[in-house]
Amino acid sequence: MGRPTAAPPTGGDATTLDHARVAALMASVTELPTLPAIATRVSSVARDPDSTVGDMAAVISQDQALTANLLRVVNSAYFGFIRRISSVFEAINLLGYNEVVKMAFTVAVIHELDYDSANRFDRNAFWTHAVCTANASQALAEQLHCAPRDDAFTAGLLHDMGKLILDQFFPDAFGEILALIREEGLTSCEAEMGRLGTTHAQIGEWVARSWLLPEAAIASIRHHHEPPEERCGLPNSADPIVDVVQFADLLCRAEGLGHSGDPARPELPEAPLANLGLDPNSLDLLRERLAEVAAEISAFF
Ligand SMILES: [Fe+2]
Ligand SMILES: [Fe+2]
Repeated sequence: MGRPTAAPPTGGDATTLDHARVAALMASVTELPTLPAIATRVSSVARDPDSTVGDMAAVISQDQALTANLLRVVNSAYFGFIRRISSVFEAINLLGYNEVVKMAFTVAVIHELDYDSANRFDRNAFWTHAVCTANASQALAEQLHCAPRDDAFTAGLLHDMGKLILDQFFPDAFGEILALIREEGLTSCEAEMGRLGTTHAQIGEWVARSWLLPEAAIASIRHHHEPPEERCGLPNSADPIVDVVQFADLLCRAEGLGHSGDPARPELPEAPLANLGLDPNSLDLLRERLAEVAAEISAFF
């Protein structure tokens, strides 16, 4: 996968100040990671109502690295299949179409965003948090019938990717940010604003825009730490998917399902539950499923 020179994305008219800060910071980054083309193809086949299991298996199988990584995960001890699974088609038959689509997308993204961390940033915890948030976002979007499941999954998976960019391209600053979180109890955003004048959410928006993600996913990445009344500037800031990803993030942090550099477990506030129209009892099944997902992610490494 090539790593083209980063070009400043356009958009976000009403956020000129933020945009200028992020642009100034990102001007020094010459090679942003790209969204893997295979992940885009997997998404588009998944969205096509006329596509078949054979179509999806063919798309995944064309990418040898993705196929090898996918089969490594499927054949890991976690899934416990007695005999070896040797094809994508077989994996779909055993695990189900939707599971394999999510897994293929996730494997491709994790692989593309891999790098050596000077801060020894805990990527296992990061991806556990990201994958759990993705699954929670998708489940909530389906339950509330408020957003396309794939958009919710993508937004949840990538909501904190700005932190990977900070760790990879601004390791000294990010190391100080992690220390501020650890030693002074600051939130990620407080520490990032204090040290860099911007946040992982704004950096994430920048990258998401360069990846041409759906606008609602971009808004989710940008606003996942802001209450509804403080969101402004993006056309989709009021999209329900933003609330879904925000709540999914809170839920996963409250449950201690991985973390993205700030392992403190917040209490789950009641207001978002009511605003989303969620019955607290309906969360128990989701919590159980997320604990399984957290165990599953260990197979990815
Ligand atoms: Fe975040
Ligand atoms: Fe998060």
